[in-house]
Amino acid sequence: MDATAAVTATATATPFSALIRAASMEQHGTASTSTFMSDLLGGRHAVGAFARYTAQLWFVYQALEESAETLKDDPVAGPFVLPALFRTARIESDLAHMLGDDWRAALVALPETTAYADRIKECARTWPAGYIAHHYTRYLGDLAGGQAIRDRAERSWGFSRKGEGVQFYVFDQITNPAAFRREYRVLLDAVDADELERQRIVEECRRAYEYNSAVFAALGEEFPLAAA
Ligand code: HEM
Repeated sequence: MDATAAVTATATATPFSALIRAASMEQHGTASTSTFMSDLLGGRHAVGAFARYTAQLWFVYQALEESAETLKDDPVAGPFVLPALFRTARIESDLAHMLGDDWRAALVALPETTAYADRIKECARTWPAGYIAHHYTRYLGDLAGGQAIRDRAERSWGFSRKGEGVQFYVFDQITNPAAFRREYRVLLDAVDADELERQRIVEECRRAYEYNSAVFAALGEEFPLAAA
């Protein structure tokens, strides 16, 4: 076997879930340690910054979930359309709690958020396997690290545990998140894609992280903290 064939054989033998996780680890680190996220997790932001962040999520999940209906019978993306994950209604209830009945008037997308949502919609329309990259990047993260954000939000701004304001982070139809994440990885491993397509999906996942980092950077500029 020549060197190229050996590399390809190794990559093919790696379960796709392990590949996408390893290949995006660096981007995960960048996104999760962004200034805005660090300040949020450090309890240094006021609730207004959290509300603005939650508003950005509305556009992202709206894009992910408006596509779900058309993709639910798609052979590639269809298995990922799992109503237990849907977040839009929960984001809306969080925004109503934080901003009042008029929350829709305060719903303004940052240009970075619009670009991100547009890319999700584009994938949903033209490349269902690319949609999976976006699906994975958001929902699997919400099930894992999202819980740290919920915990911090409850402690920082007095939301009741898993109560109003943090519904986005509550997956009450998923009783065992660790088991769910394992099942999700089985779905990833079953994605019917050749090596090139798998690489393209991984690349789209990295891009999804970059979109998230761009939104965090914009939020960081909007909510600067006085230097300590
Ligand atoms: C805010 C800080 C964050 C923290 C503390 C955090 C923490 C974590 C933790 C503890 C895991 C579980 C790793 C494991 O299973 O061993 C995880 C997984 C994950 N996170 Fe984050 N995360 C954060 C932000 C983000 C962001 C901003 C995104 C993307 C938008 C993201 C996407 C993911 C994904 C996709 C996974 C699943 C990786 C896999 O197992 O395949 N996370 N995160």
